[in-house]
Amino acid sequence: MNILVIGSGGREHAICWKLKQSRKVKNIYCSGGVQSAIREAENVALEVCDHRKVIDFCRSKKIDLVVVGPEAPLAVGIADDLEKAGICVFGPSYAASRMESSKIFAKELMAKYNIPTARFRIFDDFEKAKEYIKEVQVPVVVKAYGLAAGKGVIIAETVEEAEHAAHEMLVEKVFGAEGEKIIIEEYLTGEEASILVLTDGENIIPLASSQDHKRVSDGDKGPNTGGMGAYSPAHIVDEKLFAEITDMIVVPTVKGLKKEKILYKGVLYVGVMVTEDGPKVLEYNVRFGDPETQVILPRIRSDFADLLMATATGDLAGKKIEWDEKEYVCVVLASGGYPGEYEKGKEITGLMDAETEGALVFHAGTKLREGKVVTSGGRVLNVVASGKNIKEAIDNVYRAVKKISFDRMHYRRDIAARGASRGQA
Ligand code: AMP
Ligand code: GLY
Repeated sequence: MNILVIGSGGREHAICWKLKQSRKVKNIYCSGGVQSAIREAENVALEVCDHRKVIDFCRSKKIDLVVVGPEAPLAVGIADDLEKAGICVFGPSYAASRMESSKIFAKELMAKYNIPTARFRIFDDFEKAKEYIKEVQVPVVVKAYGLAAGKGVIIAETVEEAEHAAHEMLVEKVFGAEGEKIIIEEYLTGEEASILVLTDGENIIPLASSQDHKRVSDGDKGPNTGGMGAYSPAHIVDEKLFAEITDMIVVPTVKGLKKEKILYKGVLYVGVMVTEDGPKVLEYNVRFGDPETQVILPRIRSDFADLLMATATGDLAGKKIEWDEKEYVCVVLASGGYPGEYEKGKEITGLMDAETEGALVFHAGTKLREGKVVTSGGRVLNVVASGKNIKEAIDNVYRAVKKISFDRMHYRRDIAARGASRGQA
C-alpha cells in the first residue's frame, strides 16, 4: 500500500519509521516538506489545511491510507473530507475529534457515562467564574475549553492566579474563541500515565502504557512543554491498574461515544492521573502522543500498517499486537530557550554516532541546509534506546544523547527515573 502521513514532528517520524518495516507498504509520503530531514519517507510540501489539495495528491499518488498525526487537521474535519472523497483515513472525524478540541464535550461525555475525572464547572462569564473561584480550594485548574497548543491549562496556586487566568481567557481572550468558555476543575494529585488504544468504534486494542515528562526541567520543575521525554511501559500501571483503567475509563468512553452516535476510529489517548481514589481522566487526545509514540511503536512486533488499516476500515475484530518485552526510553533534545523563544538554524553533530550506539534518532524539528542537518524547532530530536530493563534503557539512551550536540541544546537528565525507582515493570 501507499501511505501519506500528515504532520512533521518526532511522532510522525516514528510513524513513518514503523510503517517502513511493513512488507505491505510500498511508498510512504510525509507532509513535513522541506522542514524535515527524515529518510524513511518522501517529504512532500503539502498544504494540509487545503483538503482539496490533499485529495488531489492522494489521487495522483494512489494513496491507500492517510495517517493523520496532529490534532489540528482532525479538528477541522480532514478525515470527513477525505472519506467523502473515497480515501481511507486513520484518524477520527470532526465530531469524534471534539474529544480533544472541546474539553467541554469531553467533560460532559465523562459526566454522562460516569467516567472518573476531576470535578468541574463550565463558565463563559468572568464575574460568575470569579465568584466560583472564591468558593473553591486552591490549587485549582483553569482550562480554556478549546485547542491552545498545550498552553491552555493553568494550575493556579492562589485565588489571584486563578482569577488572573480566567480574566486572560474570558476577558482578554488570549486564546481567542478557543478560550471563550473555560473549565474550572479540581486539582488532582498523583502520578500521570498515558494510555493509548486503537479503536474502530467497536473493537478496542490497547497499546503499551507509557509516561510523558511535561515540565521542562529535572524534578518536574519549570513550565509545561509538549513533552521532554517518555518511557514505556509506565511502571505505575501494573496489570491490575491497566484492567481498572480499561474497565472504568476506556470501554465506557468508546461505548459512550457509540451511544451518542459518534463513530470513533483511530487512536484514543487517555491522559490519566493515578490518584489515591483510583485513576481519573485528565484529558483525551484524538491522536498518538508525542513523545509517547516514540517509545511505544518500537515495541510493536506486529505489522503496523495492517493495524492502522484495520482500524480505519472497521476491521479490528480478532486483531492482536505482539509486544517486544524490552523497555524503551526517549529523551527530547530541545533548543535553548524552549518552551519560550528559541533560535533556529544551529548545526547538529553526532547523529550517526548516536545511531552507532544503538539508539534510534527521530527528527522533531530539523531541516537540511546545504547537506547539513540544522535545528528548525523547539523540540529538535528524540533519542530512543531500549534495554532489558529500564535502568539499562536509561544508560543506553543517555550514552547516545551525549554523542549529539548543537549550540544551546538542553534536555532532561531524569527521564524515566521515576519508573526506575519503582523497580521492575
Ligand atoms: P491537559 O491538556 O488537560 O492534559 O493538561 C495538561 C497537563 O496539566 C496535564 O498533563 C497535567 O499535568 C496537568 N493537569 C490538567 N488537569 C489537571 C488537574 N485537574 N489536576 C492536576 N493537574 C492537571
Ligand atoms: N505528550 C503529550 C501529548 O502528546 O499530548
